[in-house]
Amino acid sequence: MIESNAEPELDENRVIAGESPEEERRFEASLRPKILEEFIGQEGLKANLSIFIEAAKKRGESLDHVLLYGNPGLGKTTLAHIIANEMGAKIRITSGPALERVGDLAAILSNLKTGDILFIDEIHRLNKSIEEVLYPAMEDYALDLVVGKGPSARTLRLGLDKFTIIGATTRLSLLSSPLRDRFGATYQFDFYEDSELAQIVNRSAGILSVNIDNETSKTIAARCRKTPRIANRLLKRVRDFAEVKNEGIITLESTHEALRMLAVDQLGMDAADRKILRTLIEMFAGGPVGLSTLAAATQEEMSTIEEIYEPFLLQLGFLERTPRGRLATRRAWEHLEIPFDNQ
Ligand SMILES: Nc1ncnc2c1ncn2[C@@H]1O[C@H](COP(=O)(O)OP(=O)(O)O)[C@@H](O)[C@H]1O
Ligand SMILES: [Mg+2]
Repeated sequence: MIESNAEPELDENRVIAGESPEEERRFEASLRPKILEEFIGQEGLKANLSIFIEAAKKRGESLDHVLLYGNPGLGKTTLAHIIANEMGAKIRITSGPALERVGDLAAILSNLKTGDILFIDEIHRLNKSIEEVLYPAMEDYALDLVVGKGPSARTLRLGLDKFTIIGATTRLSLLSSPLRDRFGATYQFDFYEDSELAQIVNRSAGILSVNIDNETSKTIAARCRKTPRIANRLLKRVRDFAEVKNEGIITLESTHEALRMLAVDQLGMDAADRKILRTLIEMFAGGPVGLSTLAAATQEEMSTIEEIYEPFLLQLGFLERTPRGRLATRRAWEHLEIPFDNQ
């Protein structure tokens, strides 16, 4: 068995980490836009959603269930809070892995009042028995409870108030189709444009009372893997670096210096991305190689590779998913300056 033993450059302080520790979460929350108008980018999604919200408000009804899906850090949690805000609704937050027992879910659901929102993050990780309680709850606003044991057991149907579920997932394909079908609206998040990311960086800099020029925000925007969460993290690191090394003054030069220290290259790739590509090329002649083999060889979790690294490497055209496994493209060899040698 291969023990997961991260290299020093790949520790939890990495810019491109999958999950954020507590401090990181507070930092993120402080930068979250509160209303739809402040939410930058995703124009098509926003236009659609605002009509959906307006219509529900006009009818004086609670919002239909909403499913948000997209890569980590693109704004799903932020948007769930915005929806609640725009609806003037109370939001209660849970997640797929946190909902372990049917009883817990039943308790949460029966406490929801009309119009309240239940946000279920990582909804693809719900277990089957929980999902089965959700079906009638979402469709008929009813809880089917089993009372008693053995031959005398019977089901009791309990009515619920008309609440709204907002589900978020990074993996739509892992959602069962009956669950998917119970959402009235599904919104997909795209990667952001560089100009939108620069706007996000400027907005965050304003909130953090940090002075940056346009070149600096563009530089950060170009290296954040098209992802607002990473843009904000880079900004924070760039600020910290300037505080220690440049009397708090952020210049283009100090920004480049900070990015160099973080081993984030021009394309926004970090050491872990390069390690994945390098492993593919040097150990497996560029592939194709199965995901589990690649995970073992790079000492990364399969899910981390699939959800964090691959989407970006695919986008850069450095990686292909083939039926026989992962393949490094010619461009990847070239980027790493290894002479191409795959047939
Ligand atoms: N469209 C956006 N405009 C401004 N900031 C954004 C936007 N999308 C995401 N962010 C910021 O990026 C960070 C991560 O967003 P989050 O909603 O937690 O992503 P997700 O839930 O999809 O992983 C938050 O700090 C949030 O403020
Ligand atoms: Mg989230």
